[in-house]
Amino acid sequence: MAKTRTVFECQQCGAQSPKWLGRCPDCGAWGSLAEVRQDAPPARGAYAGLATSAKVAPLAEVEGGTESRWPSGLPELDRVLGGGIVAGSAVLVGGDPGIGKSTLLLQLVQAQARSGRKALYVTGEESARQIRMRADRLGGPPPGLYVLSETDLGRVLEAVDRVGPEILVADSVQTLYSPEIGSAPGTVSQVREVSGRLAVLAKGRGVPVFLVGHVTKEGALAGPRLLEHMVDTVLYFEGDRGHPYRILRAVKNRFGSTNEVGVFEMGDAGLQGVANPSALFLAERPPGVAGSAVVPCLEGTRTLLVEVQALVAPATFASPQRTTSGVERNRVQILAALLERRLGLPLVTHDIFVNVAGGLRVAEPAVDLAVVAALVSAFRDRPLPPDAVFFGEVGLAGEVRGVSRADARLAEARELGFGQAFVPVPAARHLHGTVGIDLIGVPSVAVLLDRLG
Ligand code: TYD
Ligand code: MG
Repeated sequence: MAKTRTVFECQQCGAQSPKWLGRCPDCGAWGSLAEVRQDAPPARGAYAGLATSAKVAPLAEVEGGTESRWPSGLPELDRVLGGGIVAGSAVLVGGDPGIGKSTLLLQLVQAQARSGRKALYVTGEESARQIRMRADRLGGPPPGLYVLSETDLGRVLEAVDRVGPEILVADSVQTLYSPEIGSAPGTVSQVREVSGRLAVLAKGRGVPVFLVGHVTKEGALAGPRLLEHMVDTVLYFEGDRGHPYRILRAVKNRFGSTNEVGVFEMGDAGLQGVANPSALFLAERPPGVAGSAVVPCLEGTRTLLVEVQALVAPATFASPQRTTSGVERNRVQILAALLERRLGLPLVTHDIFVNVAGGLRVAEPAVDLAVVAALVSAFRDRPLPPDAVFFGEVGLAGEVRGVSRADARLAEARELGFGQAFVPVPAARHLHGTVGIDLIGVPSVAVLLDRLG
């Protein structure tokens, strides 16, 4: 019997090596190489249709125009896609288990079927009955919505031929497999084959395909970069499972900006778009409590007001704790060190906890000033002015630096009834008297502390 040839393949980036290595020489991941049977080259024609024409043509003679789009039925999803579903596009939706990927895509195909498009939802994770039960919860299955519980890619492609859907969901890439490839479902070779075939199908038939991808503990999609290259658009669905809010973010988009986010609330009847997220994120803010500061953050073209909460307590162990959720821990450590060294706050003998309310994650430097304000307020046990917002990047010398789009941030704050804003000096100078809210320019953290009294 012929010996099967095997190679070792990195499960992160797909690089191959003839022998096992502890570390992938290509992407540097540790322990990611797994033995797989050497793939036969893809059958001739398997990928035909990815580029629909092999003819060389002068670019000027190629038909241009804009891609054809239509509304998804979920306005928050349209916003992230760049204005609707694009014919023939392959969209990957990633996110932690249980975050709501299946719910979102079932709502999508239901909305599409309701507007008269034939839709097929393929699931390799759940039974058709489970999908039916979920559909009932989401308003009942409309005619024109088909479901297939199947993991064999060949049978999925057959079903697509038979049903002829105008939109396809595959939930998830990691559970589908092609029996012609020796390795198990979810391995790099399988993920490559499945996503490649489905992307070809999308292009060839002009049918949009939505793929669900699982995210590993490290936050990368399993079989990650590879998968991201094979699709047109990559969306991440994030949020905290203990909270109802979900943010849908585009991290790659061939047909639109990657600056947009959609905000949803998970409820009894599935995901509802949230048109005014700031009001939602501030709804449960306790009045008159020390350690709470509001910051207007930018999420793409949107401004969200979020509440940063800090708790400062005498340290219980020799090395004080710095625990954060929603903001970078490193950033909080730096800001705490700065308050200690430059302003003499004895934080080294205190545990610090910083949290962004609502399970939101904010990564922009503009949040620095709000973190400082919350820490100082918590340490002094004195509430901040209830109608104030704070934003600005804080440098290592304690200086407060300008951030982008101060006007948009202030407009959102005014909209929600805030009366004063502690901002970087340039913003206070430029926008003085134009935003309908009192601006207090703070050149440094020391001045902020003075002003807060
Ligand atoms: P699901 O879409 O299955 O997540 P994923 O596909 O990303 O793993 O959503 C799972 C969670 O959402 C589950 O804990 C139940 C909850 N949920 C609701 O709260 N309301 C609903 O209407 C639905 C359908 C789900
Ligand atoms: Mg699911």
